[in-house]
Amino acid sequence: MEAELDTKDFIVIDNGTGYIKAGYSGEDAPKIVLPTVMSVVESQEQGKSKTMYSGADIDLKNPETPLFYPIDRGEIKNTEQDWECMSFIWEHIIKNLMQEELNSVNVLITDSILNTRENRQRMAQVFLETLGVNSLGIMPAPVLSLFSIGKTRGIAVDVGCGLTSIVPIFEGFALPHAIHKIPLAGNDITSFIHQKLSAHLKPTQIFLSRNITEDMVVVPLQYRKGQELLSEDKRFYELPGGKIINVDQDILANAAEILFKPSIIGQDIKGITDQIVESIMKCDNDLKPDMYGNVVLSGGSSMMKGFYERVEKDIKNRLEGVSNNDIKVYADSFRQHAAWIGGSMLASLSTFGQFMTIKKEEWENDPNMKPSLIHKYSF
Ligand SMILES: Nc1ncnc2c1ncn2[C@@H]1O[C@H](COP(=O)(O)OP(=O)(O)OP(=O)(O)O)[C@@H](O)[C@H]1O
Ligand SMILES: [Mg+2]
Repeated sequence: MEAELDTKDFIVIDNGTGYIKAGYSGEDAPKIVLPTVMSVVESQEQGKSKTMYSGADIDLKNPETPLFYPIDRGEIKNTEQDWECMSFIWEHIIKNLMQEELNSVNVLITDSILNTRENRQRMAQVFLETLGVNSLGIMPAPVLSLFSIGKTRGIAVDVGCGLTSIVPIFEGFALPHAIHKIPLAGNDITSFIHQKLSAHLKPTQIFLSRNITEDMVVVPLQYRKGQELLSEDKRFYELPGGKIINVDQDILANAAEILFKPSIIGQDIKGITDQIVESIMKCDNDLKPDMYGNVVLSGGSSMMKGFYERVEKDIKNRLEGVSNNDIKVYADSFRQHAAWIGGSMLASLSTFGQFMTIKKEEWENDPNMKPSLIHKYSF
């Protein structure tokens, strides 16, 4: 059967703190990008019945809507409710949005780097037992991001909603001792802006601060206090209802700087470029050129204007004894969805279905073998 797999035989799902991306293997972009948020409404009248809504079906602007975010800083939170939410979202994507039968699909899901084996086993349990899919592959998102530009060696730098991960990879395998995970990303920039604009925005209007982050934040090549980053006509933001606010330049400049100088929001950790350089330095000497020659940016927050230029300049300044010509930072235009795209490419190779996935029969065969199956298929 495996030999007959064709490119669309996998559903690829990239689980993000802010957005889940899903679509068919072999395609260029995810079909579905769904906010990773749930609303669970418990009805007293009908006993203990629950109604669950996910992503686009929730009225996010209604302050009465109870919201749950099952993924925190890249990892599925470990409560029954969070797993129930994830199972609901995955089932909703496959059955309702992609209109596929659960028991006839093969799935590739992404995993946060350095996820625990227990967490991975739970994901496998949900897909292979609760949802009953045919086969399941689990791949670390950064490895797939690197793969999206055809590379198997390099350092993947992903800046998403909740997490920044810096992951040196050699021949498709992450080098665990040199991985840096930074609990700072797009959500922190958006929260900072939201807090600073609280005189104009209601607590429930965080989506407006996200728009401001995406439209107005510019990372300067070099941070200077009091610096003006936007031209006069770009400093204004129109609120729903037509009111126009002038967004203070200092707020935008500090927001842009959070990833480079986390002390701005009181975090006692090093900034992203220092941590990229540290991660490269932890690699063996003979692997270093592969790393600084292939710094691959991905994730939605790496789309911030000026971000790529600043990262490249900082790395060139800080990596001592390496010629600037040997340092290469990649920022492809599709990088926001790089992990999904890498997954789509990998799952369309017939060898993936044959050798890199757990089959339902194998999983059901001997319950004692589940941990070793997870070990065997962890990459
Ligand atoms: N053009 C842009 N400029 C700045 N930020 C952007 C832009 N486009 C998207 N973002 C930000 O990128 C983030 C979403 O990125 P992404 O989908 O990679 O995150 P995720 O996968 O859900 O999260 P994580 O990988 O951290 O678990 C949001 O914070 C969003 O505001
Ligand atoms: Mg992500």
